[in-house]
Amino acid sequence: MQRLLRKKANSIFTPSYIYDKSLIVNNLSFLQRKFAPCNADIFFAVKANTSLSVLKIIKELGAGAEVVSQGEVFISLKAGFKPEKILYNNIARKEEEVLYAIKRGVLYFNFESVDQAILLERCAKKIRRKIKVFVRINLGIFPDTHPHLSTGSPRSKFGITFDELKNNMSIIKKFKFAKLIGIHSHIGSQILKPAPFVKGVKKVEEVLVFLKREGFDITHLNLGGGFGVPYHPDEKQLDFKPIVNAYKNLYKKYGVKIFLEPGRFIVANAGFILTRVISVKQRNGIPLYIVDAGMTENPRPALYEAYHHINLLFGKKGRKFKVRVAGPLCENSDEFGVYHLPELKIGDLLLIHNCGAYTRTMASNYNGRLLPPEYLFDGKFRIIREKQRFENLIENEKY
Ligand SMILES: Cc1ncc(COP(=O)(O)O)c(C=O)c1O
Repeated sequence: MQRLLRKKANSIFTPSYIYDKSLIVNNLSFLQRKFAPCNADIFFAVKANTSLSVLKIIKELGAGAEVVSQGEVFISLKAGFKPEKILYNNIARKEEEVLYAIKRGVLYFNFESVDQAILLERCAKKIRRKIKVFVRINLGIFPDTHPHLSTGSPRSKFGITFDELKNNMSIIKKFKFAKLIGIHSHIGSQILKPAPFVKGVKKVEEVLVFLKREGFDITHLNLGGGFGVPYHPDEKQLDFKPIVNAYKNLYKKYGVKIFLEPGRFIVANAGFILTRVISVKQRNGIPLYIVDAGMTENPRPALYEAYHHINLLFGKKGRKFKVRVAGPLCENSDEFGVYHLPELKIGDLLLIHNCGAYTRTMASNYNGRLLPPEYLFDGKFRIIREKQRFENLIENEKY
């Protein structure tokens, strides 16, 4: 892709997102192959990337969609996902949000508290449509990732504790419309070691045995997403073997259908941000390059101190220097980090890697900036979203 991008560089706007279709296809096919022995279905976590063009690629490969809001239900349906291939999860929803999804045929929901379980039953009853529900358990596991991404830890707000579930069995047993068919767990995101996943499976099994003993016909386990990707060149790929073995054992032992809901793994490395150096100065003897992309296009460095590899689109020979690369926004945290790069000048094009997940979906108009255009590379560069216009900055305002 980079070779062809060099040829086309003059016709591509900066900053912009560029997605390489072949990488999305490879990543999803890889997961589908790996987890085939586990009787697993994959539901793409739409929060990672909501581009319709990206979603369509994923849908065409047979995956479903995991969503967390009415808006994501809307987008997924627009992308062509069948409503019965949509999982609607969230820590808490309002009645209108649940009704919106049920009315459109969404079948699977999770709950993470007793009041939310009751809400699901009430909504399903209201429109007399049966839905299938999963209980999300807080497994109390530290998955060895950034604290903001550690959703399975005991202090995290996510999931219901096993004890709380045990104490509320009588309520859930009475449900007639929201049938409990599965257990849901998602211990965190960007996990690069298999051990926390394997540990999680043991805990899920405990809950499964308990619920079966209580008389529930648990036919599904949603074991979440969280598969990490190497952002830094020194990081190693996640070893899937122990995870596949653990999930496979669960399927073989209990005959359950396994659901997985990865986001990052499918799209992260397929997305790039093309950006241009717009100012050069020195800070404490180190070159500081200001580029035209920043935390509005990729908030991950500011939010998680995340590293994103950067290379020059047109390579330069010669010495590399320790440099800082920062965005143009009025925030100190708007900085990509410290890199080793050749001397740069204004106008040089840089490619920021691993920008396919949790970038465009977390992007903002902060500082009055316009959301950038997006391109899909499928042998050719196709524009899949135009750059926003100034009018978009004030639409819906009454003044
Ligand atoms: C419930 C749930 N499922 C799936 C995901 C996707 O995680 P990832 O993109 O790390 O695979 C998330 C993201 O944090 C999540 O909260």
